[in-house]
Amino acid sequence: MTEQRRSQGRFVLLFGATGTAGSGVLQACLEDPTVSEVRAITRRPLGASHPKLREVIWKDFAHFEGIAEEFRGVDCCLFCLGTSARNVAGEDAYREIHVAYPLAAARALLAESPSAAFVYLSGFLTKRGSWMMWARVKAEAEDALATLGFLRHANVRPTGVLPMHPEGAERWLLAPLARVFPSLTIDRVELGRAMLRLGLDNAWDGSHTLESSELKAIARGAPLPAATKGEPHASAS
Ligand SMILES: NC(=O)c1ccc[n+]([C@@H]2O[C@H](COP(=O)([O-])OP(=O)(O)OC[C@H]3O[C@@H](n4cnc5c(N)ncnc54)[C@H](OP(=O)(O)O)[C@@H]3O)[C@@H](O)[C@H]2O)c1
Repeated sequence: MTEQRRSQGRFVLLFGATGTAGSGVLQACLEDPTVSEVRAITRRPLGASHPKLREVIWKDFAHFEGIAEEFRGVDCCLFCLGTSARNVAGEDAYREIHVAYPLAAARALLAESPSAAFVYLSGFLTKRGSWMMWARVKAEAEDALATLGFLRHANVRPTGVLPMHPEGAERWLLAPLARVFPSLTIDRVELGRAMLRLGLDNAWDGSHTLESSELKAIARGAPLPAATKGEPHASAS
């Protein structure tokens, strides 16, 4: 990226901006003075407007050829699109959303903005070979993203992300529990600050996986993952 681009501010590409996590990430981006534009690729309107926000309505998240220009001039992509395994009809459908979609976005980004960073919102307990389908499939996405050749790629694995207005079990159980055991949750905007720092700060490189406690520290200014200059795709986890 040229110094001229840097002086104009940074461009963030955001997926999942209507969601619990993605809306916090969006807020963090809009509040950051170094960000000049957030391009939110979304299948439905965000219902919000902001001078820095550019909404791109798109329906086919496995193919982005029709909006390739939206991936141009981007500094980082924060991929927060995803859903609970409870909401999909089996492993194939879950894999489509959590592997095919991020990989399609990642490939489109590499084609149009080869020096951009990619930050994938994975999940707590993600593990290769896990007995939990969602944890196994997300690990597949993490591994596949690490092979694409990004200069900087991070998988982030937060614990619970509470919505702005928790309801049901989140309100009566998780929110009070989180006050006693803070490690059970991470604030949505705090998660956003961590993802944004990972996306925009080029003091690190390679491929890393970060857990909730590391994300909280990064959001508060702790050093980024150990430098891996010359060791692309080393994983911190
Ligand atoms: N919430 C947590 O506690 C937590 C913790 C760790 C990891 N995560 C992970 O973070 C990701 C997002 O979770 P969330 O809680 O923010 O979910 P959410 O509130 O349900 O939001 C999901 C976002 O993804 C979009 N999306 C979902 N399925 C889609 C599809 N088939 N096509 C296009 N867009 C789709 C939604 O768009 P619409 O608004 O149009 O539906 C929304 O923007 C998931 O992968 C989840 O596993 C969540």
